[in-house]
Amino acid sequence: MTLKTKPLSLIVNGEAVGPIDVPEDMMMLDFLHEYLNLTGSRMGCGQGICHACTIAMDQPGGALMEMRTCITGAHFFAGRSVHTVEGWASRDGQGTVTALSPVQQAFISHFAFQCGYCTPGFVTAATVLLDRLKRTPVRRDDLERVIEAALAPHICRCTGYVRYYEAVRQVILDTPGLLAG
Ligand code: FES
Ligand code: FES
Repeated sequence: MTLKTKPLSLIVNGEAVGPIDVPEDMMMLDFLHEYLNLTGSRMGCGQGICHACTIAMDQPGGALMEMRTCITGAHFFAGRSVHTVEGWASRDGQGTVTALSPVQQAFISHFAFQCGYCTPGFVTAATVLLDRLKRTPVRRDDLERVIEAALAPHICRCTGYVRYYEAVRQVILDTPGLLAG
């Protein structure tokens, strides 16, 4: 049996990737793991439910949106720009992390995760939420609902939800311009 492949080019964490011959039916999660060695996005349910495999994709205009890579083919991302959990921290020219993103730092400061399996998905969800609030600030009295709506799709089997919520709330309150009024 021969595997049908076709070339794939895209931008990952700001770097051009490809063209690489990739099986036509390969899921994005497998492409990230097997071809790019970006293993931070997790395989959980493999069915689009747990959101552990979530990455972010740039939409036209630049706004981020979440994408589940276990149910989205790699070739869907042809020509697009995506961000994996490996891309949120700042790095020096050698690729060494020099500073975590505000969300990552808040998750550590709040002891938000336990085993950490769900954490890449939560980091991405919170980062996408911050990006959205920069464009459309939220009223203070609507903040809890907005955080819950952003994080609710993500499953944490260690049930560390409260600290994730608290960490995200703190980042939003500490970041100028995210609250309206
Ligand atoms: S592994 Fe993708 S949604 Fe669960
Ligand atoms: S910290 Fe273990 S699954 Fe969330």
